[in-house]
Amino acid sequence: MTILIDQPQLQLDCIPLEENKLGQSQCAFEAPDMNAFGQNFRDYTNAESERQKGVEEFYRLQHINQTYDYVKRMREKFSKLDKMEMSIWECCELLNEVVDESDPDLDEPQIQHLLQSAEAIRKDYPDQDWLHLTALIHDLGKVLLLPKFGGLPQWAVVGDTFPLGCAFDASNIHHKYFHENPDSKNSTYLTKNGVYEEGCGLENVVMSWGHDDYMYLVAKENGTTLPSAALFIVRYHSFYPLHKAGAYTHLMNDEDRENLKWLHVFNKYDLYSKSKVHVDVEEVKPYYISLINKYFPEKLRW
Ligand SMILES: [Fe+2]
Ligand SMILES: [Fe+2]
Repeated sequence: MTILIDQPQLQLDCIPLEENKLGQSQCAFEAPDMNAFGQNFRDYTNAESERQKGVEEFYRLQHINQTYDYVKRMREKFSKLDKMEMSIWECCELLNEVVDESDPDLDEPQIQHLLQSAEAIRKDYPDQDWLHLTALIHDLGKVLLLPKFGGLPQWAVVGDTFPLGCAFDASNIHHKYFHENPDSKNSTYLTKNGVYEEGCGLENVVMSWGHDDYMYLVAKENGTTLPSAALFIVRYHSFYPLHKAGAYTHLMNDEDRENLKWLHVFNKYDLYSKSKVHVDVEEVKPYYISLINKYFPEKLRW
């Protein structure tokens, strides 16, 4: 099975799940010299359609409500991992309960997006089994939308992510709504470095709360043996201001710079896996179960 296409097409079925949920066009083809292409696809300035208005309203709410203190509270709350116990595969199946009402194109079960990404990477990087598994798990944090995980609002689960505790970079989508964020009144947070030191490493930076950071917490706290690049991908795959616009790089350290290369690789498979090509779940399941057994305990706390 192959999903990659030689020349990127502007097709709706390649839009990532979280962006589809918001009804926006956020198909950022992730290659270092493809920014112009990506910018075209991420054109939020044309407010003609209702879809785009919905996206703007989403980001208005996200930018107002995601504050430094809010993220601290959410990280503390969810790092207890007291919601349930289940295996990685059980969570893949559970994610199918996340219904995407706003996306008429995404009629496949969510597990298809995970497996399509993973299978496409597996084909091109057959020896990087950790990357196959990373693709499988990268969106599992979206279970935060389910009632048993607190039923968080969309602005607290999906969408682009960004650092708190320092100035909001202008490359953040719908940047203007940060003016209504309480953190914009705190002078400590308004400088380029804010509460951080240059080169401190992203690990020390408080990111807006969402499915990325949650899944990172779950993987790390349950003692995964996945390499640091895998955790980096899971944690920052929605951090478009960084991996698309190149913002906030002054906060990165050497390890981040190494890991960012893998995030760039991963990102194009995330975006171009919304193919209609159907993956036979039962056929590939034994392979992914073997990877899960290699890198994770049988049951994880969530
Ligand atoms: Fe995601
Ligand atoms: Fe995804």
